Formats: sequence, C-alpha cells, structure tokens
Amino acid sequence: MSNVTFSSPVMARDVTVYAVAGDRGTILAVAKAHKIPIPFDCQDGECGSCLIEVKHLAAGNRKNAIALTEKEKELLRQLGKITREEIYDAEVNDMPPRYRLACQCFVRHEDIVVTFKGDETLPVQPPYLTAAAKLYNGGVQIASIEEFHGFAVKVEEDAALHFDKLSSAMANCGNLEVAKLFAQLAGFSRLHLAEARKRAAATDVAKYIPSDYAWPDHETPERTALWAGDPSLSRLDALRAALVGERRGYEFYYSVAGITANPEIRAAAKEFYQEEAEHVQVLEAWITREEWLQKNPLPPVETPVS
Ligand code: FES
Repeated sequence: MSNVTFSSPVMARDVTVYAVAGDRGTILAVAKAHKIPIPFDCQDGECGSCLIEVKHLAAGNRKNAIALTEKEKELLRQLGKITREEIYDAEVNDMPPRYRLACQCFVRHEDIVVTFKGDETLPVQPPYLTAAAKLYNGGVQIASIEEFHGFAVKVEEDAALHFDKLSSAMANCGNLEVAKLFAQLAGFSRLHLAEARKRAAATDVAKYIPSDYAWPDHETPERTALWAGDPSLSRLDALRAALVGERRGYEFYYSVAGITANPEIRAAAKEFYQEEAEHVQVLEAWITREEWLQKNPLPPVETPVS
C-alpha cells in the first residue's frame, strides 16, 4: 500500500492517490488511472517524454528495491538526468536516482511524491489557495527580515504548543490514539521551530515576536480550531484539522512572499512555504491512507492458540 502524490505546475493543486496491491503498476499507469496529466508517448522507455522526479517520503530516506532497467538507465543518461554516482548507487546499493521514467518505474510499498513539468505549452496554474490566504494580505505587514524571523518563530512555536495541548487534552479524555498523533505533530512543529530559530540565529527574535493582535483572528495561522477534549475525535478528524492548520501556514508564508517588496523576505518566505507544502503533502498522504483504511478495514490479527 502506498500513497503517490503528484505535483506539477500544470496542476492547480497536488493530488494524492492511494495505490493498493494488485492495482499497482508503473507510475504512468497509476497517473493515467487518476487522470494525472503526465505526458507520455512510446510507453516503452524509448522517448523520454514521461520524465519525472521521484521523492521518497519514508523516514530515513530508505528506498525499496528500485528495478532500474538498463533501458531506463541508458535513456536517463542520454537525457543528462542521471549522474555517474547515481548509476553506481543504483547498481551497488539499489538506491534510485532522482529522475525516473514514469512508464518504467513501478510503484512500490512506500509513499512518494512525483513531480513533473507537464506540457509546457499549457498555461501554468496558480497554486490552490483558500480564502484564508486573502485574509493575510492585509493582516500582516512585515518590514524586515528580522521581523520575518520573529513571525516564523512565533508561528512554529504556537503550532508546537497547540499540538502539545491537544495531545494532553486527548490523553486526559482517554483518546490515546489521537493523543499520540498530536504528540507526533507537535514533534514535527518543534523540528520546524528549531529550523526557524537556526535561520534567525543572528537575530534577537524576542525583539520581533509579534503580539497576538498582529494576526488576523488574533491567532497564528497553524493553530487549528479543534474540538480539544472531544473523546470521539477520530484519527481522520484530527488529521483533517491538522491539515487545515498546515494549509494556513503554507498560505501565510505564500502571501508574505507574494506581497513583500523586500527580496530577502521573499526568498525566506519562499523557503518556508515550500517546506509547509511538504507538510501538507505528508498530511494529505496520511489522510488518503486513513480514508482507505476506513473503507477497507484490515482483518483482525489472529492470535495463535497455544
Ligand atoms: S513514454 Fe516514452 S519513455 Fe516513457
């Protein structure tokens, strides 16, 4: 079972699909089944039109057997999309190269993000944004890179504290499964917070951390309107609510990058929204899996009678 997230400038938003055993084929076959517009022609590893970039989401970047055929390797080499080191890694360590051919690359038992350029003659789609993004255009004005770092630290710190609080609330009302999930999300936010603090190393961020009134709705974007303490909250509800928060985080940084006239702030905000986009992808992949599991519950594990 694996989640495959497709991302391309020719798509208005990323699409995650769940590929299950038996349905699985090449990435191109999965894309075609879900109307994802990866260009293709020969479907036999001869033309290179289905070139894609594959990112593996597994912890520790562990990849499964890659099955890079001689044909695919040779065409990637001709296209200048595989290095000598990558060929060595593929042959000796079974590590996949960055680029693949969608018609030759099989979906394995792991979550991946597939990026492709698509038909470059088609207009580039603007990213999908909710109405919340517009709110930030007038809501937060950032004057300097130091101030941006202050905002970023505050966003990530709030998100970590918020998830910690939700985790304890869920543990207190006995919903241990969701408590664990929120604790995990708090851990992710703390990693992001550490990154934000690292980038702001030369800045005394305490001087620039904005007060609550600086934000639309008086709260930072990644805080989610969750029903903390609701013992009936399912993992899927929790994931969906967390996704709303991550999307708001993405939209906040995206809006900052879009409205600032300061190139330094724009570059920093761009890095942050790209990272937030990855978090959104991971949560979407989890949600797709959870939805699939709800429709197809796993059979109970039988305990051997001794
Ligand atoms: S479609 Fe021609 S190489 Fe994949």
